Amino acid sequence: MNAPRTISYPTYLVLEQLLSLQRPQSTPEHPDELLFIVVHQASELWFKVILHEFDQLIDRLRAFDAQGALTVMQRINTLVELVSHELSALDTLPPQRFMQFRGYLGTSSGSQSAQFRAIEATSGLRDPHFMAALKEHGPLPPPVARALERPTLQALFLALLEHEQVTLEALYTEPGHGLLQMLAESLLEYEQGFARWRFLHVQLVERIIGPDTGGTGGTLGAKYLQKTISQRFFPELWAVRARLYGR
Ligand code: HEM
Repeated sequence: MNAPRTISYPTYLVLEQLLSLQRPQSTPEHPDELLFIVVHQASELWFKVILHEFDQLIDRLRAFDAQGALTVMQRINTLVELVSHELSALDTLPPQRFMQFRGYLGTSSGSQSAQFRAIEATSGLRDPHFMAALKEHGPLPPPVARALERPTLQALFLALLEHEQVTLEALYTEPGHGLLQMLAESLLEYEQGFARWRFLHVQLVERIIGPDTGGTGGTLGAKYLQKTISQRFFPELWAVRARLYGR
């Protein structure tokens, strides 16, 4: 199928609009604000792709296609690494320079990222505390509501095991479950990769605003973020290790 002749690099990528969407608020414009905006916008674009890949992953898991699910997980894990690396661009932002334009951000806070919350909810963060925090700012954003309509990734993976008549223990005690074991490990790799993002982000936050400064989202800042690092998406996958080998 031929592409229409009118499609070119700038029109295909809608570059004019894309490049007009970085709008520093500081006056006169602070030279570091563009970087700050772009790292956030780029992260949101990658979050969008990750959520899109989750749709593929959930389709594959529902179809009991372990190979297909593993292929998607490998991509998701690469994207999570990539979005973590992007944070390092802001390690070049010294605290005094951030303070020069922080006031212009108003009440903006990463905690208002609907896509980040949708990734968490899809992955399995649904405990009552998490749900209450989500509802504090009014109705659930559509991507979060959509994520909550579906089973968690852990539930989908356990359903796949049930379909294959393999127990979680068997993955780690019996030969012959290579593919399912690789899939389980790729889910844990995702969990670790996501926790690495959290860790790198909290380090960035401490480096720029210090460990004891509250966030614009009304949290205790780094102290709140530290606590989120221990949250688990796949408690069953961690627990099986303790059950089998924790003595
Ligand atoms: C100068 C750099 C940054 C600082 C000082 C900073 C600061 C903070 C703070 C203090 C919080 C806690 C919530 C609050 O009370 O505001 C937070 C949360 C968050 N930030 Fe950042 N941040 C930075 C860069 C980024 C970047 C580049 C992203 C990429 C999208 C990001 C995404 C988020 C998200 C998703 C949360 C919610 C995390 C959660 O609730 O687990 N932040 N940030």
